[in-house]
Amino acid sequence: MSNGATSSKREIVVSGIRSTGVLHLGNYFGAMRNYVRMQEDYDCYFFIADWHSLTTHPDTKGLSGSVHRVLAEYIACGLDPAKVTLYVQSDIPEIAELYLLLNMLAYKGELEKTASFKDKVRQQPENVNAGLLTYPVLMTSDILVHRAVKVPVGKDQEQHLEMARNFGQRFNHRYGQEVFPEPYAFNFGHELLKVPSLDGAGKMSKSENQMATLYLNDDDDLIRKKVMKAKTDAGPTAPNTPMPDYIENLFLLMRLVSDDSTILHYTAAYNDAAIRYGDMKKALAEDMIRFIAPIRESARELEKDKGYLHKVMREGAEKARISAAATLQLVRHAMGMDYRFLS
Ligand code: TRP
Repeated sequence: MSNGATSSKREIVVSGIRSTGVLHLGNYFGAMRNYVRMQEDYDCYFFIADWHSLTTHPDTKGLSGSVHRVLAEYIACGLDPAKVTLYVQSDIPEIAELYLLLNMLAYKGELEKTASFKDKVRQQPENVNAGLLTYPVLMTSDILVHRAVKVPVGKDQEQHLEMARNFGQRFNHRYGQEVFPEPYAFNFGHELLKVPSLDGAGKMSKSENQMATLYLNDDDDLIRKKVMKAKTDAGPTAPNTPMPDYIENLFLLMRLVSDDSTILHYTAAYNDAAIRYGDMKKALAEDMIRFIAPIRESARELEKDKGYLHKVMREGAEKARISAAATLQLVRHAMGMDYRFLS
């Protein structure tokens, strides 16, 4: 089913990850795992959003390193460059062209109202650049350049997707042709998993409290240290007490990586008010290591093989540009900007 003959009929999926730092367990269960499951049944375009990272990280010293790292991690997590199109955003000039054209249809008022923009204004008042304001237009271009209909992203991207639908429909109406379909957020199977942070406050994230986040690049000892530091208490004093959030979170993490018997064992111990959190955390740490270590090692190997990574980037860009160029041709035609087109 995944051969070229059927690929043109498959639904198109696009998603990107910004190249700002090392991926963590939240990225894995929130994004990567979804991507990996989609690669068999959809026509997938997964990319590294390096232009987007410039809106918040204008210093490009570490950029090349993170682009390689994210690509290596994509592959280490199970994405197969032979099945999906893996590329770097800045290798696709058609995205920039579409961005320019769509910017004329995006209004200052609606862009200023975007939640992510307002957050960023608060976080970096000294750098409220135009790229930050038009971030949703660039994201729209990423998606519409392949005329994608499914976008595997988390809840925090809903508003951006709604804007992508608006911009695409606005283009279609303005220029009188159905160039763009409507893209929707998509999660494979059930609801998206939230991966809680180890300090009981919110989810794992790239930048906040690094000791509360497990990165796919963490060494075994660091994983142990982080898990052992996770917040607990003296334990329940009576059977079947409701769990405090931070304990519930430990069980959530355990459900991601441990087998059923381990989970049952500690759940029963909790309900009997006989749990020893030290033991539970030790077990969790070892299961985390069993999960993370192979991804980490494989990503590190791949990262060293620049020749291979560059081949993946080159071939991915070639495939992505075929799809992107076809869309831009439709776009220019709809706008009457294909001046040398003979009809
Ligand atoms: N905005 C997304 C995020 O921060 C990353 C992204 C950029 C993206 N372009 C995209 C995701 C296109 C899906 C499709 O997570």
